[in-house]
Amino acid sequence: MSYQQAVDTIRQKTSSTPKIAVVLGSGLGAFADSLRNPLAIPYGEIPGWPVSTAIGHAGKLVFGNVGNTEVVLMAGRAHLYEGYTPQQAVFGVRTLGKLGVDKIIFTNAAGGINRNYGQGALVAITDHINLQGSNPLCGPNDDSLGPRFPDMTEAYSRRLLAVALSAAAQEGITLFEGVYAGLLGPSYETPAEIRYLRAIGADLVGMSTVGEVIAANHMGIECLGISCVTNMAAGVLPQKLDHEEVLAVGLQVRDTFMRLLRNVIERM
Ligand code: HPA
Repeated sequence: MSYQQAVDTIRQKTSSTPKIAVVLGSGLGAFADSLRNPLAIPYGEIPGWPVSTAIGHAGKLVFGNVGNTEVVLMAGRAHLYEGYTPQQAVFGVRTLGKLGVDKIIFTNAAGGINRNYGQGALVAITDHINLQGSNPLCGPNDDSLGPRFPDMTEAYSRRLLAVALSAAAQEGITLFEGVYAGLLGPSYETPAEIRYLRAIGADLVGMSTVGEVIAANHMGIECLGISCVTNMAAGVLPQKLDHEEVLAVGLQVRDTFMRLLRNVIERM
C-alpha cells in the first residue's frame, strides 16, 4: 500500500496544506460540521484508506479552518477490533504525516479507571500503556517514515499538554491528566482487568489511539491526546457497561469538548 498514492489522490482534490490534524473519536464527528470552508473526502475515495465499520464513526477526511488555522480532521478511525492489521489502522496517520501534518490531536472515548474522574470528564493523556498485543512498527522498517527504534519518552508532547491545559483554563473547562491503557477490545474489560490496569498505573482505558501515537512518534509528529470518559470502567460502579450509554455521554459532552478543541487548535 502506497502512502504516496493516497497523498496524490488527496492533492488532486485540495491544495490545502494543514500542519494540524485532529482524529475524532466516537461522537465527535460533529466537529467536522463546524469547520469553515470544509472540503470532505470520503475514505472510500482514497486508495488504501481503511473504511471504519464502528457505529458513531463516519468515514471521511475533512479539510477546513478553525478560526484562521487550517486543519484536517479524520472523522472516523480504523480499530484493530474491526479486524484491521496494525499497519492498516495507522494508514491515515501516516498519510497525513506524508501530507505535511506535524501535530495531531487524538481524541477518543475511554473508560475511567481513576476514581477522581466522573462520567463525562475530559482527560489529557500524559502517557500510554500499549496492551493491544501489537505494534504498527513491526515488520521491516520503512526508513522514509522514521527510525527502527523510535524513542517514546515523550510520546505525548509536554508542550501540547501545556497548551491544552491553558486552553481549558481559559474556557473554564476542567481538564484532568492521566495515563491511557490501550486494549484490543471489542469486549469491555472485566473488573479484574480494571483492577490490574489501575495497579500498573492506568487512569483510562480504551481501544484506540496507542498504535496511532506510536506511528505518529515514529514520524516525528507531535501528539496530544484527549479522552472523554464516557463511562466509569467495569467494576468501578455497581452497574454494567452499555455502548449506547457510551455514545449518549459522548453526545452530552460534545459541545464542551468541541469548545476545548477549538481553543487548543488556535493556540497550537
Ligand atoms: N473500555 C474500553 N474502551 C472504552 C470504554 C471502556 O470502558 N469506554 C469507552 N471506550
